Amino acid sequence: MKILITGGAGYIGSVLTPTLLGLGHEVTVLDNFFFHQNSLLDCCQYDKFQIIRGDARNEALVKPAVAKADLIIPLAALVGVPLCNTDTIATQTTNQDAVEMICRLASHEQRIIMPVTNSGYGVGEKGIHCTEDSPLRPISQYGVTKVKAEEAVLTRENSISFRLATVFGMSPRMRIDLLVNDFVHRAVHDRAVVIFEGHFKRNFIHVRDVVRVFLHGMQNFATMKGRAYNVGLDEANLSKIELCAVIQKHLPKFVYLEAPIGEDPDKRDYIVSNARLASTGFKPEWPLDRGIPELIKGFTILRNSVYSNV
Ligand SMILES: NC(=O)c1ccc[n+]([C@@H]2O[C@H](COP(=O)([O-])OP(=O)(O)OC[C@H]3O[C@@H](n4cnc5c(N)ncnc54)[C@H](O)[C@@H]3O)[C@@H](O)[C@H]2O)c1
Repeated sequence: MKILITGGAGYIGSVLTPTLLGLGHEVTVLDNFFFHQNSLLDCCQYDKFQIIRGDARNEALVKPAVAKADLIIPLAALVGVPLCNTDTIATQTTNQDAVEMICRLASHEQRIIMPVTNSGYGVGEKGIHCTEDSPLRPISQYGVTKVKAEEAVLTRENSISFRLATVFGMSPRMRIDLLVNDFVHRAVHDRAVVIFEGHFKRNFIHVRDVVRVFLHGMQNFATMKGRAYNVGLDEANLSKIELCAVIQKHLPKFVYLEAPIGEDPDKRDYIVSNARLASTGFKPEWPLDRGIPELIKGFTILRNSVYSNV
């Protein structure tokens, strides 16, 4: 297939893009390299890899790229509440307006597969198993713009939305601001973490399972299109305290304690059902007990010692 990925040099895109190229697809990545990342260098060997350095909000760039694609995967976004809070205008124009533009530019036959956050389920749903029919009521601008983008995508024909749990695992464009990655990073380098809202439940999915779910959506597009699917590990609807206990199994010297040092801007405390996706035949392959040793190896390589002798 001819695939356009906006934001394809990001955390998810930097694992997805080489996988698609390895399978023989023709992949164009449109990215502004916001983080000065060099994560796609290994993709340049492929004749079928094209790169457009530019802004996903620029219609003059996006229009011809969309016209050539069979499938569009919009990943370009300001991701996460703290980054969105630094530039609310860029958040609106990138996370929502640019996706609505793609929907307007794409023909009915062209396919779109897009990830959104499931964080909005958490609001007022304590202890309840959220399904795709539960209301999404995000509080943060990040959550709101992603939900609006999903609405635009699912209003058109030929689209799938994947509502991702918090992603974890190593990527060539690494993010240590994601919960599991953050805790394992602290466990490796500081041997300790102080947790707030420790009993609040969250859910998780490995970045390679995210890539696998995109492939699953491509392979089963005809039967899966037109709907949203929760994507998470059934066995990883865990509180932060429970997550720390899992990390401690792998790093016995890791110490964690709780203190009232903050609160979640999206008020996430929720359990998510992945039954709809499971009924399409998808099974995750990366439980936490497989991903945490991967992260420990990765963080043994990555060490931020710019201002230190060790
Ligand atoms: N990682 C998660 O836990 C998670 C969970 C749910 C949904 N998602 C969604 O998955 C997508 C990718 O997330 P990620 O974790 O890879 O984040 P990321 O921040 O690593 O990637 C975003 C990419 O978009 C690019 N970008 C930003 N603004 C751009 C612009 N104006 N024009 C062109 N490129 C631009 C960045 O350079 C980066 O490569 C996002 O849409 C995000 O909302 C991620």
